[in-house]
Amino acid sequence: MGNVVIANDHGAVEIAERLIRHLEKRGFSVNHLGVTSRESVDYPDMAALACREYLKGGYDFGILCCGTGIGISISANKIEGILCALPQNIYAATMARVHNNVNFIAFGGRIDYQDPVEKMLDAFIDSTFEGGRHSARVAKMLALETDQSC
Ligand code: RB5
Repeated sequence: MGNVVIANDHGAVEIAERLIRHLEKRGFSVNHLGVTSRESVDYPDMAALACREYLKGGYDFGILCCGTGIGISISANKIEGILCALPQNIYAATMARVHNNVNFIAFGGRIDYQDPVEKMLDAFIDSTFEGGRHSARVAKMLALETDQSC
């Protein structure tokens, strides 16, 4: 199947375990960079670890989890070449691929999702980027990383 890199902070140990189990059931090879304990760590460090590993190449996509998913997704989006979505439900998880073509998806371990996170992840994995007018928008998002004129 494919390769996925995943990292989480102490606020998302269980959700990360759930997602890893699900990915492995689907046949993915998962590189989990931690953490597995409730001992406090800083989510920007975990985001940086996973994003830098992803950027080495060979991964289909990455997953980041913290308590809300907010801090770790913001951190990831500061790194050049990373587009990280924080979907609320199955619909948003689908569109994160179809319209935004993100390479990272984030979840919050302390969030009560209306949809099972495994189903949200499936929706992301099983969707395809639509391209067309969305390609230009994705290119513009990536250009914002270096273009200070807009
Ligand atoms: C850690 O307590 C918490 O702040 C973190 O997991 C996350 O929710 C930040 O956005």
